[in-house]
Amino acid sequence: MAKSISSLIIFLTFSLFSYFCSLGVAAASSKPRGFARTLLPETLGLKREKITHLHFYFHDIVSGRNPTAIKVAAAASTNRSLTEFGLVVVMDDPLTETPEPTSRQVGRAQGIYSSASLDDLSLLMVLNYAFTHGKYNGSTLSILGRNTVFSEVREMPVVGGTGLFRFARGYAQAKTHTIDLNTGDAVVEYNVFVVHY
Ligand SMILES: *[C@@H]1O[C@H](CO)[C@@H](O)[C@H](O)[C@H]1NC(C)=O
Ligand SMILES: *[C@@H]1O[C@H](CO)[C@@H](O)[C@H](O)[C@H]1NC(C)=O
Repeated sequence: MAKSISSLIIFLTFSLFSYFCSLGVAAASSKPRGFARTLLPETLGLKREKITHLHFYFHDIVSGRNPTAIKVAAAASTNRSLTEFGLVVVMDDPLTETPEPTSRQVGRAQGIYSSASLDDLSLLMVLNYAFTHGKYNGSTLSILGRNTVFSEVREMPVVGGTGLFRFARGYAQAKTHTIDLNTGDAVVEYNVFVVHY
């Protein structure tokens, strides 16, 4: 009697086990192909992350016949604000190897800056560096940050990139090289550190 009860228990346990296993198999085989799947980095040809340091000069030319940064919008009160609060400028500023505007161009800084502080001169920067030289030609980095233009060094996050800079993240440090207070034209030195594949 005891023997047959233990056989029964073993049998039931085994049956339940098989039943749950079959449920598992059924669940796996009928799983719909969803919108997301997990990939190994190698699938995209990505091997090891590295850090690249970029160094260039940014030329923000707001005066003269061929400005590279132009005001596109302002509030009625912007000209009464010491910080030009509400000003929106679109730029396509050259990036060069040395502070000389005629030195080799490595890319452009294309995007928008906007005066976004009531109390100090702090810009919201939303832009892409579009590189045009050497192996980085065609690759871009995207910057989204706060630029307190009168600080010695301003730091802005690199939030992404394309081409050789896919999966990029990092930071850009800006340091004013020269500024013409009459025209507003400025040359800014950039050191950009990016982690990418
Ligand atoms: C600000 O600009 C408006 C026109 O947009 C002008 O009427 C006004 O005089 C300006 N104010 C100052 C202080 O420049
Ligand atoms: C960058 O790439 C573009 C498009 O592929 C090409 O036309 C241009 O000559 C390249 N520039 C340099 C400096 O390699």
